[in-house]
Amino acid sequence: MISTEDAIRQRSSTRGYTEEKLTDEEVKKILEAGLMAPTATNRQEIHFTVVSGDSEILKELEADKNGLRNGADPRGNFYYCAPTVFFLSAETAFHWSEVDAGIAVQNMALMAEALGLGSVIIGCVNDALHGEKAAYYAKALAFPEGYDFKIALAVGHKKVTKEPHTYDEAKSVSVL
Ligand SMILES: Cc1cc2nc3c(=O)[nH]c(=O)nc-3n(C[C@H](O)[C@H](O)[C@H](O)COP(=O)(O)O)c2cc1C
Repeated sequence: MISTEDAIRQRSSTRGYTEEKLTDEEVKKILEAGLMAPTATNRQEIHFTVVSGDSEILKELEADKNGLRNGADPRGNFYYCAPTVFFLSAETAFHWSEVDAGIAVQNMALMAEALGLGSVIIGCVNDALHGEKAAYYAKALAFPEGYDFKIALAVGHKKVTKEPHTYDEAKSVSVL
């Protein structure tokens, strides 16, 4: 297992996966990383739904996303044919739900990296999951009552690799 520092430094978005499935142990560890993430007032209001990459609901969601966003991504479907997609939903009325979901999904992405897997955070299905079929998808994806979609994470074995992004520290950091 690599260090936390290495996982943070090495992680980058993976947009192409082999057909190899995740093991039950890998799924369990990635879920645990999400469940271990802190939440405001320890509310633990995030729900995690694990969906297999060959599931019909993902094909339907891909079609609906494309309808709303003027066609398919040339790089593949919205989860880049990953074998597993984790959907994070959270309590709609709780003020910190989006922050908490963001913290949880990054914990999961770092765990995937530590396990030697690739991942990509997925927000592009947000409009489709909040549109006219929101209730239908909430049921199909087992979101609890009063919850809505926040973010998703596709995970699998890397077929393509990409260098971590660069950044401009002078622009992004102030030290007083
Ligand atoms: C909230 C959020 C939503 C994102 N949604 C998508 C997405 O729908 N599709 C995608 O390919 N990447 C998505 N990404 C990945 C970003 O494009 C990526 O993190 C960014 O370009 C930096 O690259 P890196 O992850 O390789 O460091 C998302 C990232 C975040 C944080």
